[in-house]
Amino acid sequence: MQLKHFLQFKDLTRDEFEYLFERTRRIKEQFKAYQTYHPLHDRTLVMIFEKASTRTRLSFEAGIQQLGGSAIYLNTRDSQLGRGEPVEDAAQVISRMSDLVMIRTFEQDIVERFAAHSRVPVINGLTNEYHPCQIMADIYTYIEQRGSIKGKTVAWIGDSNNMCNTWLQAAEVLDFNVHVSTPPGYEVEPERAGLYGTDHYEEFTDPMEAAKGADLVTTDVWTSMGFEAENEERKRDFEDWQVDADMMRLAKPDALFMHCLPAHRGEEVAAEVMDGPRSVVWDEAENRLHTQKALMEYLLLGRV
Ligand code: CP
Ligand code: NVA
Repeated sequence: MQLKHFLQFKDLTRDEFEYLFERTRRIKEQFKAYQTYHPLHDRTLVMIFEKASTRTRLSFEAGIQQLGGSAIYLNTRDSQLGRGEPVEDAAQVISRMSDLVMIRTFEQDIVERFAAHSRVPVINGLTNEYHPCQIMADIYTYIEQRGSIKGKTVAWIGDSNNMCNTWLQAAEVLDFNVHVSTPPGYEVEPERAGLYGTDHYEEFTDPMEAAKGADLVTTDVWTSMGFEAENEERKRDFEDWQVDADMMRLAKPDALFMHCLPAHRGEEVAAEVMDGPRSVVWDEAENRLHTQKALMEYLLLGRV
């Protein structure tokens, strides 16, 4: 089988995502019915974390176990990765002892270099630039709740961070639109976002305008991991970029609210939205488990 990585959303095609979403539906259904399914028996996933995580670690570790395999957790603090071993050397060694690698780290370049020297598939578990596994779960959640996302409008309110960039890539791959509103100075950088063009998104200076008529309103923390030094400045700059009930009222009546979590109620989202009836944040988190099981199965076994 040809070696395939998932380092950014556009690494897979629309056809592959359609297959993965269908597999997710089936895998989730079997899991809910307590049916044992161990296609990855004896396979080992290595998870490398250079940043903190609850959902990503849990969903990959539980996911590989539920598919019959096992996971090994490495972090920068107590492995040689934190002591300057070249990422290329680490990739050679780790990929000779495992079947699959997931990495959460800083620059995208690190996962790209790792993958270039890996014998096994590599999955991006979040970088400064992208968070493809989260967007896969979010889009699956949208489909589960509302059907196809093709032609729909997603409003992105806040920072043009890893989540925003990945929504923009996903819009190109799956053919939907994104209304982006960021504070001045935090605009989308199309090259960093890895976009083919500007056809699938529109930028708004006023977040309320961005939310108008949207099928889905989504946001993320004002300060992402690794940018903590900018926290106080960002709190001031992002003050008007909170998703609140007034903003949700401008979206379509059946619009959903999403957040990848962890969230800060009272900052990027008002508590009444986060905990309100249109919020599907817990489904998004749960679907990390099932979409990633479909992804791991696909990267290791192809279409089954
Ligand atoms: N959404 C997400 O990736 O959460 P964690 O940082 O807890 O993994
Ligand atoms: N943008 C956030 C996402 C956390 C899951 C961060 O990178 O910290």
